[in-house]
Amino acid sequence: MTNFELYARELAWPVDWTAVYHRPAPLLLEIGFGGGHFLAGLAQQRSEANVLGVEITRPSIRRGLKKLQAAGVTNGRVLQASAEYLLWACCAPGVVREVFINFPDPWPKGKQTHRRLINPRFLALLAARLSAGGLLHIATDVADYAQAIAADLVQSPYFESLFETPFVTQADGRVRTKYEQLALVAGSTCHYFTWQRNAVPAADEFPIPQETPMPHAILYSPLSLLEIANRFTPLHDTAADIHVRLPMLFKSQQEHLLLVEAYINEEPISQRVGLLIKRRADGHYLIGLSEMGFPWPTPGVQLAIACLARWLISLAADTAVRHHNLPYSLDPKTDHR
Ligand SMILES: C[S@@+](CC[C@H](N)C(=O)[O-])C[C@H]1O[C@@H](n2cnc3c(N)ncnc32)[C@H](O)[C@@H]1O
Repeated sequence: MTNFELYARELAWPVDWTAVYHRPAPLLLEIGFGGGHFLAGLAQQRSEANVLGVEITRPSIRRGLKKLQAAGVTNGRVLQASAEYLLWACCAPGVVREVFINFPDPWPKGKQTHRRLINPRFLALLAARLSAGGLLHIATDVADYAQAIAADLVQSPYFESLFETPFVTQADGRVRTKYEQLALVAGSTCHYFTWQRNAVPAADEFPIPQETPMPHAILYSPLSLLEIANRFTPLHDTAADIHVRLPMLFKSQQEHLLLVEAYINEEPISQRVGLLIKRRADGHYLIGLSEMGFPWPTPGVQLAIACLARWLISLAADTAVRHHNLPYSLDPKTDHR
């Protein structure tokens, strides 16, 4: 029986899609498939293709799974993740053949339009992952979103409209999505875009993220774990596009361990991880990453560990670094940025 769900945690960066689908075939992607009706129809109609639906919500994943099962297809999969993460981390340049975005969240209020999925940066990411000649299909019933998308596509060096206009307002013969049906019943105009990726090479703006060897530092400090815990204050650091925040420290029931909560933002990944300060049998402290929650050891985790190590070093004059594998200086006085 086909297992229709993919799990972000298990996917390599980038994914070998031929291995996932057990066959080489063009990769078609539906972003934000909602009810899954269109996704299942796409998998049925395009049996020659590998079809992937990506969604951020669990209820949509459940609906998509049901629809794929009911459709009796074997070429459809769903993944709970953001489209940005999927494209950036999991898709090698040029690997996607077609993208469908049906009725993306409109975020209509003035201050919220910056939350819209489709913007010049997202189009540049799509351009970096679509193959030359690949297609981008978008549908929306929100008139000012349609105008904004049209303006962004016209401005983009990477796409050409397949119509004489940026969009058309009729699309016969397509599987209608739930939001499309609601819009049509309400008498709203739907705007349909089909743009083709041209051969202009994409700028190298979205490198596939890297996993690093398990980052850690080993220090000598004259302080006890309790003294370290009692002196903790929230920490934060920034390097290039990575932002880390360490707001809280927890004392473990075990006497040799402290746990520090860390929030790490590094596009396209955001992680909340636990960092450990562990007293080893030889009296040294190991600062590393807790395996709780299966974190990805990324450059952001390296920065978070360096931030914690630098703070620990700043607490006592005769603290000494014995070993570390971080790409940062641990001297608290050094500005690494
Ligand atoms: C307005 S609904 C449209 C659903 C469906 N496409 C339709 O036309 O009926 C937008 C969907 O996009 C999903 N979504 C929003 N942002 C997303 C993102 N960054 N990546 C993947 N899905 C996203 C939402 O969870 C929601 O289900």
